[in-house]
Order: sequence, then structure tokens, then C-alpha cells
Amino acid sequence: MREVPPGEAIARKYPEWVLWVITADAEGRPNIMPAGWVMICNAKPLMLAVAVGFGRHTHACLEETGEFVLAWPGVGQEALIGQLGSCSGRDVDKFARFGLKALPARHVAAPLVDGCAAAFECAVVSQVELEDHSVFIGEVVTAHVADPPVEKLDNFNGRFAVAQPRD
Ligand SMILES: Cc1cc2nc3c(=O)[nH]c(=O)nc-3n(C[C@H](O)[C@H](O)[C@H](O)COP(=O)(O)O)c2cc1C
Repeated sequence: MREVPPGEAIARKYPEWVLWVITADAEGRPNIMPAGWVMICNAKPLMLAVAVGFGRHTHACLEETGEFVLAWPGVGQEALIGQLGSCSGRDVDKFARFGLKALPARHVAAPLVDGCAAAFECAVVSQVELEDHSVFIGEVVTAHVADPPVEKLDNFNGRFAVAQPRD
């Protein structure tokens, strides 16, 4: 092994999964951003954690409402990942600009998005503020899968593709 700066070692993390973090503001306006820094952090009940930068509009929405949806992008949403990750809901209605079809969630104000592989409605149970990101831990209150199934995309260092294509 060779000692290197942490940034050089962590750059070898790919492939990494990528999820949509879907929120609504206090007035119910939806927003969406891609996030790779997501983990499963409890089994029963299922909990998911996501690290969100302080400056993101998503961060403000999460603090305002305490709820969110995490969803795996599906095949066909490859280009959207870069697009939705390079503008802010503070400046633009991403659902309108990128033609996203919102579907009603059951328990949270944030919507589901048509074309995803699976989606998890989450209620924030804890927020850990670090130096430049907060980790929001969400308890999954309802889960959904695409029917018929849709394959999820993974992040191959900026190229988004299905990890194991069907035969
Ligand atoms: C593949 C990918 C993964 C990302 N992962 C994260 C992440 O885990 N946490 C985060 O805060 N931002 C992440 N970003 C950056 C946000 O998606 C980006 O800053 C977005 O424009 C924020 O939108 P908002 O201001 O509407 O919340 C990621 C971007 C991309 C393209």
C-alpha cells in the first residue's frame, strides 16, 4: 500500500450508486437533486441516510419539512443526472424545466417521479451537522417499486449505466 491524500484514495470508490433526493418546500413546491452519499443505516425499521451540502436548496427543504423521498434513477434517466445536479431548485423549477412527471406519494408532500426503479418515502428522525454537509437520517415510511420493473442506474465515475444488463 502507498500513503496518499484522502481525496486520491476516495476517488477509487466507483462504481457508486446514485439516488434522487426529492423534497418539497413549505409551500409544497417540489425539488430534486442527485446524491451519491447515501447509505442504509438501520434494518427495523428501515432507515436511509443522505449527506446534503449546506448550500443546497434540498438542505433548506429538508430542514423546513423533515421529509423526503429517495429514489433510484431508472434506465432512460441517464442525462437527467447531470442536468439535475448542475442547477438549484432555488433558481429554477426543475420539474417544469426537465419535464419530470410527478406522482403523488402516500405519506409525504414530496412526490415520486415516473421512471424510477424504486422509491422510499422517508421521515427525518435525525440530522447530524458536520463541517459542510448534514447527514439526514430518514425512517422509511412507505416504499414503491416500478411495475413493470425498471433497472436502476449506477455511477461509473460520471457515466451512468445499468451495472448488470439483462442477458
Ligand atoms: C452524481 C451526483 C452525485 C451527487 N451527490 C451529492 C450528494 O451526495 N450530496 C450533495 O449534497 N450533493 C450531491 N451532488 C450535487 C447536487 O446534486 C447539486 O449540487 C444540485 O444541483 C443541488 O440541487 P439543489 O440546490 O436544488 O438542492 C451530486 C451531484 C451529482 C451529479
